[in-house]
Amino acid sequence: MNYVIFNGNIIERSEANVDIEDRGYQFGDGVYEVIRVYNSKMFTATEHLERIILSAKKIGMELTYTVKEMKELLTQLITKNSLEHGTIYMQFSRGVAPRNHPYPTSDVAHSFVAYTKEVARPLANLENGVKAILKEDIRWLLCDIKSLNLLGNVMAKQEAVSKGCYEAIQHRGEVVTEGSSSNISIIKDGTLYTHPASNLILNGITRRKMIEVCEKDGIPVVEEPFSLNDLNTADEVFLSSTTSEITPIIQINEKQVGEGVPGVLTKRIQGLFDAAIESECGSLTTTV
Ligand SMILES: Cc1ncc(COP(=O)(O)O)c(C=O)c1O
Repeated sequence: MNYVIFNGNIIERSEANVDIEDRGYQFGDGVYEVIRVYNSKMFTATEHLERIILSAKKIGMELTYTVKEMKELLTQLITKNSLEHGTIYMQFSRGVAPRNHPYPTSDVAHSFVAYTKEVARPLANLENGVKAILKEDIRWLLCDIKSLNLLGNVMAKQEAVSKGCYEAIQHRGEVVTEGSSSNISIIKDGTLYTHPASNLILNGITRRKMIEVCEKDGIPVVEEPFSLNDLNTADEVFLSSTTSEITPIIQINEKQVGEGVPGVLTKRIQGLFDAAIESECGSLTTTV
């Protein structure tokens, strides 16, 4: 994993030096994506790259790269680093300029960084499920932007981890929004409920794929806000994200979800999701 993309060029990681006046570093002024790689192929790359262009647009940054150009560069990086199974992290910041709150003039180039990481699939979590805590969602109101500002998410995750849990399920008052780094879905009487894509959540690529495969398979999906009470009385609960895929949640705070083991429908959705990965990236049997 010795190579990185640095402002459009693939160079040795040790040669990539970020300027201390990069606005990403000083203001969190930028956007990012994480893309999963299976069998050296990116999964749902187009969706991730379209989302980073959209996130950038929402903070007034017009990226100069097309989806096709980014895909070509990232593919080169995967080859250069001989990445088989793992992730690509990529970010664009607004660029390097003397520290001052207003945006710098448009001739300041965006900083573009990407690197790869070898990561195995979280097989134990997928099989056994994880525990979560509940946490008031204290983040800003533009959670649909995958922005570098992650302090609210980081603090929520830390609280979960410090309590021996994997994720913090966030809620604004009575309404469940999303995890600190995942989307949350519940199953009640055979129907899947998940928060609608709005400014209150990141419209996860895994969430979208999950909805697509469920609808194709005849599992009813309702994209409506659900309450803490709905969460408490759900038959099954799971989280979804690029790196965690479809991970069952078996306990929330001190309370068991359902029977305290991954639910039947969650397992079926995992199977459908695996099939979607395999149809794009090839067999998953080699990814352990
Ligand atoms: C806050 C938040 N919500 C949802 C997600 C899931 O998004 P995706 O499925 O695109 O990884 C993430 C992923 O990092 C996230 O950080």
